[in-house]
This record gives sequence, C-alpha cells and structure tokens, in this order.
Amino acid sequence: MPFPIHRYRRLRQSPGILRMVRETQLSADDLIYPMFVCEGRGVRQEIGSMPDVFRLSIDNLVKEARECQALGIPAVILFGIPDKKDARGSEAYNPGGIVQRAVREIKNAAPDLVTITDVCIDEYTDHGHCGLVEGGRILNDATLELLSKMALTHAEAGADIVAPSDMMDGRVQAIRRALDGSSFTDTIIMAYSAKYASAFYGPFREAADSAPKFGDRRSYQMDPANGDEGVREALQDVEEGADIVMVKPALAYLDIIRRVRDSVNVPVAAYNVSGEYSMIKAAGEKGWIDTERAMMEALLSVKRAGASMILTYFAKEAARVLRR
Ligand code: PBG
Repeated sequence: MPFPIHRYRRLRQSPGILRMVRETQLSADDLIYPMFVCEGRGVRQEIGSMPDVFRLSIDNLVKEARECQALGIPAVILFGIPDKKDARGSEAYNPGGIVQRAVREIKNAAPDLVTITDVCIDEYTDHGHCGLVEGGRILNDATLELLSKMALTHAEAGADIVAPSDMMDGRVQAIRRALDGSSFTDTIIMAYSAKYASAFYGPFREAADSAPKFGDRRSYQMDPANGDEGVREALQDVEEGADIVMVKPALAYLDIIRRVRDSVNVPVAAYNVSGEYSMIKAAGEKGWIDTERAMMEALLSVKRAGASMILTYFAKEAARVLRR
C-alpha cells in the first residue's frame, strides 16, 4: 500500500487550525450548578467527600447563586436538607419548606437565574427511600400524589423548572396535570428519565443524608446493564410531557446519552454526579491527575456524547476556566 494520501496530523499543526476543526465547544451556557440548602444562618459546611461543595443556609445560598450568575452559569438546581424527616416526607411538600423558601429568596435576589428544583422525597423521608413505603415495598401510585404536591409548591415559590428524580412510573404525567390544573402551564419539567441505580451517588447521599435505611433503590432506579430501556424511559417521559430529559450518571453512561439524544426531539441533560466529581477531585488532591484538565475533558466528553446541558459540581470551576 502506498503512503496514505490523508495525513490527519495536517489538521493538528497549530492552535489556530485546531480551533477551526474543533467539533465540540463547551460553554458556561451548558452548565447547571447543584446546591445543597439547609436551615440556619451563616451556615457554610463543607461536605467531607466533596471538596469545595458546601451545605449552605439560605443567606449563603443566595450569595453563591449570585456568584454563579456572575460567572455566566444560567441555572442552579436545589436540593433541600430539612431539619425534620418522617415516613411520608412531609417537609418535601410544605409550602414553607427549606427549598420553597430558598427558591423565593433566589428569585428575589437574582430573578434571571434559572432556578431548578429536585423533586423527590428521599431527602425528607426517615427511611431514605424515594417513595412511600409499605411492608418493605416502595409504593408507586401513592407516591405520585406527593410528588405532584411537591412540584406544585416549588412552582408556587417561583421555580422555573421542576426536576423529578424519584423514578416512579407515571410521575411526569401526574406532575404536568397538577401544574396545569393550577395554571402553572409554563413551569418546565426536566425529567430524570434514564436514572441508573449507581454507586456514583455515594458522596451525594452523605451530603443530603439520604442513604436508604433498608434495602437499596434497585426496584425503581435502572439496572446499569440496560441501554434499550433507558431509551424507552426517555421516550415515555417525552410522551408524558417532559420538556427536557436527563441521563444520570453521565460518564459511565455516555452511550446512553448518545442513544437518547438520537431518539428524542427535546433537549437532553446529563448529570455528572457526585461520585464522578469526587473521583477527579480525590485523584487530583493526591497529585495523580491534573484536576483541571481531567474536569474539562470529562465535561467535554459529556457534551460530545450529545448532552446540551450538564449538571455538575464543577460548574463554577469550569466557568472560570472557560472565561480565561
Ligand atoms: C434523589 C437524587 C440523588 C441524586 C440526585 N437526586 C441520589 C439518589 O438517587 O440516591 C444524586 C446526585 C449525585 O450523586 O450527585 N433525590
């Protein structure tokens, strides 16, 4: 065979050429910053397994939300850490609950910052499951009513987007009906559609104190072995009214992101979850990898796979790198 006519290195010879042929661009516009909000004042408590991520009381949360906005990040997603938990997760749908108050304060201080709320009762239940429990089983249909109530209180507080992460069947339709029934026809639903039962949620569960007290989440979250099913979940959520579908986690599921991207006609979000963040941070702290380069490469890969938005604890750090 003669020497090949194509020399791919021709298009790699200078920074200018590289810029011209680059297929994927990461921008601060793609990023969504997850935040943990707790009771109290002046609270800023670092999460042990997530360096540089904090549990914040509302006053500090608002400051950090403003900081996100200044960095060009368009949206934040809020997770509540209530003082009280019970079997039915009552604080989750209390109109005066921690997330509901936090949304009001953020929308007051930074009306243009898109505010997303996680809709799931696991942080609010004493058993730590995402649904009502009866005789050791997680009830599906009875949980839908609580999720709908929860989403409605978030919309009433001013949330722009509600994001159900519970994985109960039929929740997108139930939430859409509840919102429309109370004139919140413009509240957007971002569904955690293909959410896998993953070990990579470990640090989040420390942060939110939401680990299940018995059993695991495998009867509602997806089996990591299943790709076709992830596509089915996303298609079904679009049919039920989801405006945006999500794949979660991101890095171990890049194939699912691509397949969902090619199957639906709505924007796809991907959640670069806590364990994915902590691994890069931990290896970086040990001096084993270059944290900044690994972060940017990981986020770029999620974008390249087909996500048009990325929920990531790296959002602020990445936005700072992107501005240089
Ligand atoms: C459930 C929820 C979880 C995460 C987001 N929403 C945890 C779980 O399913 O146990 C995980 C996010 C992360 O790991 O960063 N409310």
